[in-house]
Amino acid sequence: MFRLDGKTALVTGASQGIGAEIARQLASRGAKVVAAARSEDKLAALVDDITSAGGEALAFSLDVADHEGLPARIKSLPEGFADIDILVNNAGITADSLLARLKLEDWQRVLDTNLTGAFVLTKLMLRGMMRRRWGRIVNISSVVGMMGNIGQANYAATKAGLIGFSKSLARELGSRSITVNVVAPGYIETAMTAELAEGSRDALVEGIVLKRLGSVADVAAPVVFLASEEAGYITGHVLNVSGGLYI
Ligand SMILES: NC(=O)c1ccc[n+]([C@@H]2O[C@H](COP(=O)([O-])OP(=O)(O)OC[C@H]3O[C@@H](n4cnc5c(N)ncnc54)[C@H](OP(=O)(O)O)[C@@H]3O)[C@@H](O)[C@H]2O)c1
Repeated sequence: MFRLDGKTALVTGASQGIGAEIARQLASRGAKVVAAARSEDKLAALVDDITSAGGEALAFSLDVADHEGLPARIKSLPEGFADIDILVNNAGITADSLLARLKLEDWQRVLDTNLTGAFVLTKLMLRGMMRRRWGRIVNISSVVGMMGNIGQANYAATKAGLIGFSKSLARELGSRSITVNVVAPGYIETAMTAELAEGSRDALVEGIVLKRLGSVADVAAPVVFLASEEAGYITGHVLNVSGGLYI
């Protein structure tokens, strides 16, 4: 079950954290994986790992905020990795600040990466998926997009935006057997949450029903599922992976 042999996946933000684990898990299920991000060294190390484990992957330098440059970059995907069946829009950044102090440039920077980056990249992938009449798009949102969070108005707006984007796209693409779903993690142990002070970490865990932060594997597993043939009747869905932080 949940084999992805013969499929090619592109994962953005694959150089570390959740995206790297998603790339590893997709490859372990038989997909060829384009691991995309800006940090080429980290991507090369990931691809070495995947290859040593018997998988197939390509390190692909990509800046999702470079909207003008994305079409040419995607066109340069080498043969064998060019027909993307599974797109995981995972690249994301934060630039936290209370709204009163939130600068327009920090609002814009977060939108450019988290939301507009996903829009531009998804649009570039659509033609191939529509031609092949098969596709899986999984957008990585956050429960913060549904709950809101102090100091994260910009980030939360992008994560809520991804949900509206995905639901609309699901309706547009259903007749071509392309599914569009969202995985919304809660607090996951990665670089993004590493800076949490010990006190606020304890308070956070208190609010999580399962009494722990999530792991990258906790997030990668539902992404693999949503990318699989077996999830073919699920579209427009938001799957919370938050240990019950958001119910
Ligand atoms: N960690 C959590 O608790 C949590 C919770 C909910 C949702 N999420 C979401 O899950 C996703 C992954 O989070 P994470 O915790 O794994 O974060 P992370 O460790 O900070 O990794 C972020 C990834 O995004 C990539 N990235 C950033 N800007 C990019 C750009 N312009 N173009 C291409 N790639 C870019 C980074 O790679 P480069 O710097 O190499 O480009 C990196 O691989 C994000 O969308 C995040 O919002 C995380």
